[in-house]
Amino acid sequence: MTQVHSVILKIDGVTKLHGQFRALNSISLTINRGEIFGLLGPNGAGKSTLLSILAGSSKPCSGIATFDGTQIQPSNQTLRSRIGLVPQDFAFYEDLTAKENLLFFGQLFGLRGTFLTNKVNEILQIIGLDDGKAHQYSKHFSGGMKRRLNLGIALVHSPDVLMLDEPTVGVDPQSRNRIFEAIKTINALGTTVIYTTHYMEEAESLCNRIAILDHGEIIACDTLKNLLALTQTTVKFSIIEDDQSKEEILIRSIPALKPNILPGSYSLTTHTNPTPDIINLLVNEKIQIINLQMDSPNLEKVFLSLTGRHLRD
Ligand SMILES: Nc1ncnc2c1ncn2[C@@H]1O[C@H](COP(=O)(O)OP(=O)(O)OP(=O)(O)O)[C@@H](O)[C@H]1O
Ligand SMILES: [Mg+2]
Repeated sequence: MTQVHSVILKIDGVTKLHGQFRALNSISLTINRGEIFGLLGPNGAGKSTLLSILAGSSKPCSGIATFDGTQIQPSNQTLRSRIGLVPQDFAFYEDLTAKENLLFFGQLFGLRGTFLTNKVNEILQIIGLDDGKAHQYSKHFSGGMKRRLNLGIALVHSPDVLMLDEPTVGVDPQSRNRIFEAIKTINALGTTVIYTTHYMEEAESLCNRIAILDHGEIIACDTLKNLLALTQTTVKFSIIEDDQSKEEILIRSIPALKPNILPGSYSLTTHTNPTPDIINLLVNEKIQIINLQMDSPNLEKVFLSLTGRHLRD
């Protein structure tokens, strides 16, 4: 991942009303050049609304969104051409092939001739539609292939920032991997990525910073490591009967260790993963273990601890 720390996108106090409904409530965020930034939230959280403001396709009711210090506005076509938006719905012509679609959208951005053809071929390769599939009508594509084409279209004009709105909904694992690989490739070439999802596993595996959005508000925004540290890890283990006389040593060494009802079984809950310390102690004291179970933190638990609700209902 490109490691440059300068702000490329900034939103400050952005509010968006749909009629009386407050879809975004005074959101402030900064996105750094070169990062893969995750926007995680349940259905209706306001993810697409926020992306549409960042992409310049809709205006905030109050607050300001800037790209490289310039205000993002629907009328600013030059600035909008530096952004590639992969919309939540398919946005291509089903009666054209994959290649024809890419050529068409490339022409819309003013690309022509060999430059356009080379660019289209490069993208077909990145999205894994470079074999015979490039010449198939996109209406015959699987859901995963359609998602990949949707992504390709957002890349044809070489944007500085790629924004993806739930790009893996309804895709098979192979297409999901292709999409992930394409995003990583594009990012490694210097493109900043904003990845919107309600799948916490995707945000965990792809993004280096994540904002959690709920009911139009950012309830947390940090690195994955720091977000996970908001919850705790519980480790449960049991030792063999012959070694149960060593309970005193265990408790003395790890005062927070709690004996469970079953003899020889213990649990420990901490903010950092205590498993290595527990295993070291058991090895050093030659205590034999029967089983060990770790309940690791994940973004689902972070969301639950912040909202009292599950991310996916
Ligand atoms: N044009 C609109 N008119 C009225 N309400 C709208 C409009 N667009 C969005 N909303 C409402 O604003 C809220 C946020 O919508 P948005 O589409 O941004 O959420 P989302 O996080 O993208 O959800 P999803 O995961 O379902 O795509 C929702 O409650 C939605 O019903
Ligand atoms: Mg949405």
